[in-house]
Amino acid sequence: MRVLNQLFANNRAWAEDATRSDRDFFARLSQQQTPPYFWIGCSDSRVPANQIVGLPPGEMFVHRNVANVVAHADLNCLSALQFAVDVLKVGHVIVCGHYGCGGVRAALRGDRLGLVDNWIRHVRDVHDLHRRQIDALPDEQARLERLCELNIIEQVLNVCQSTVVRDAWSRGQTLAVHGWIYSLNDGLLRDLNMCVTSEAELPAQYEAARDGLRAQIPGRAS
Ligand code: CO
Repeated sequence: MRVLNQLFANNRAWAEDATRSDRDFFARLSQQQTPPYFWIGCSDSRVPANQIVGLPPGEMFVHRNVANVVAHADLNCLSALQFAVDVLKVGHVIVCGHYGCGGVRAALRGDRLGLVDNWIRHVRDVHDLHRRQIDALPDEQARLERLCELNIIEQVLNVCQSTVVRDAWSRGQTLAVHGWIYSLNDGLLRDLNMCVTSEAELPAQYEAARDGLRAQIPGRAS
């Protein structure tokens, strides 16, 4: 099939639905975007950024890649971060990974999948860094879950250490960087209790998250 008709039909229905209760929805959005959030997430089809936090178009700037990696020299991710912070002036950067991440699983197992292995090498580096903590866990499931969490914690650190975020903080811009994890099993987000709002906070926040309790669902007794 040369034209994916079903997707175009879905799109027409979606656009009609969006304007049914708000006739100027697209006209207004086309003028400008002022999203308060920048989301860095996994490309996994089961973790659609806007949908899981219930935000419509215009509310969240999004960058996704395999295993939500923030590599120091990745111009794609860094350019999105710089645009979000310097131009859009988002107040929050959210690094959101997920349990059961295929990229993290491949890193843990050392699977050979092809070119992507070179990207996943960043997650293997996270495993190497925390090998003692991860390998002490009783089974592969627990090791995978903890590596998913630690990968997010390390990527939050990378965001905070970027020139973009350090420069924003040093000129007094209000900016919080968060680490969250999503569960495919129940559709709920957990907070990794790493929220950094200044360079001074970073070491303590990082160490607490690295050594701390498992992720928790805010607003729910556990
Ligand atoms: Co994933």
